Amino acid sequence: MSRIVILPGDGIGPEVAEEARQCLAMLSDHCGLGLTFETHDFGGAAIDAHGVPLPDATLEACRGADAIFLGAVGGPRWDNSPERPEAGLLKLRGALGLFANLRPAGVVAGLEDLSPLRADLATGADILVVRELTGGLYFGEKKLGEDEASDLCVYSRAEVERIAHIAFRAARDRSRRVTSIDKANVLATSKLWRKVVTEVAEQYPDVALDHMYVDAAAMALVTNPRRFDVILTENLFGDILSDELSVIGGSIGLLGSASFGSEGPSMFEPIHGSAPDIAGLDIANPAGAIASAAMLLRQIGQPDLARILARSVEEALVEGNRTADLGGNARCSEFGARVRDHLKRALVRHDAHLELVAMNRGCCG
Ligand code: NAD
Ligand code: IPM
Ligand code: MN
Repeated sequence: MSRIVILPGDGIGPEVAEEARQCLAMLSDHCGLGLTFETHDFGGAAIDAHGVPLPDATLEACRGADAIFLGAVGGPRWDNSPERPEAGLLKLRGALGLFANLRPAGVVAGLEDLSPLRADLATGADILVVRELTGGLYFGEKKLGEDEASDLCVYSRAEVERIAHIAFRAARDRSRRVTSIDKANVLATSKLWRKVVTEVAEQYPDVALDHMYVDAAAMALVTNPRRFDVILTENLFGDILSDELSVIGGSIGLLGSASFGSEGPSMFEPIHGSAPDIAGLDIANPAGAIASAAMLLRQIGQPDLARILARSVEEALVEGNRTADLGGNARCSEFGARVRDHLKRALVRHDAHLELVAMNRGCCG
């Protein structure tokens, strides 16, 4: 039994979240996971219904959830509202202490044609961005006057240490390389960041660490993406670099993410926004949302099903199903349905495999 809180949000958020929900529901029915889904108002939709982007009832539901799934928030309609939809997202991340945001990206084998980069550069790119999510410029004191404005950037040693540990641990399951990205040639916060990350690295002698300035890293991501394994970076740099990185694989619509803290529920969301330019047309790419649902499955203790769902997304793409962002004409709902076709077939194979394992156990003790 797991209680999943869904925050569809705004724009394409509800469209992509629904495709992801249907994938989770299919897996739950088939495998008896007992997932329950409840939807709550969030973002612009919550401003319209309740006057605030993060109503108390939504926050309470999130606190009581086993996992939270978010579509996307924001849109021009609320650009001038006293509190923007995006402020609700930052409040939610802050309230739940979701300091770590993991964004896997890269070029899927067989899908090199989706990359705008030359195949010799793109092939094999496989990067995990570990983005600090509750510090830095996003959460420092803000002042907005008529003639002057400021955003305070603050990082404490403890904040850097805990996110650095996440990155080094993640690197141990990958190629054991961490690139920490900062602007230590200019920013005081980056100087502390670099010092602390270097100290934490001493506890991980089996993981190689290097440092890059964010401007050079932005360039290297497109000239030599294979040089990266795990990218460890602060909030704003992680936001910008992950959008850049998403395009190397073909589209921002492909990337999912997981955000977690030291305790309590984690949140899963595609990295893209509400895409007001294509909202309501059923043409958004739901792959990133479904990839986020796969990450959710891993977190609720279903790593096999997580792999099967992530693989089904890749198979649907390899088979040639492409939404408009990838140059195709598949609708959002069609792409979701094709993923579920692959999922059904994979579940049949999975059941057969489990039966075989059980039979062998029976035979061999
Ligand atoms: P965006 O990510 O919404 O869109 C950027 C471009 O990418 C647009 O051309 C859009 O059509 C395209 N795109 C994005 N997702 C896509 C998908 N799944 N399939 C196909 N194409 C896709 O960024 P934006 O336009 O700068 O922001 C729009 C709103 O979303 C803003 O209010 C912004 O603050 C908000 N936003 C929210 C989140 C979130 O909820 N996590 C993330 C980013 C932006
Ligand atoms: C993201 C978004 C958010 C961020 C905005 C909407 C606050 O761009 O999740 O990447 O900047 O973190
Ligand atoms: Mn972003």
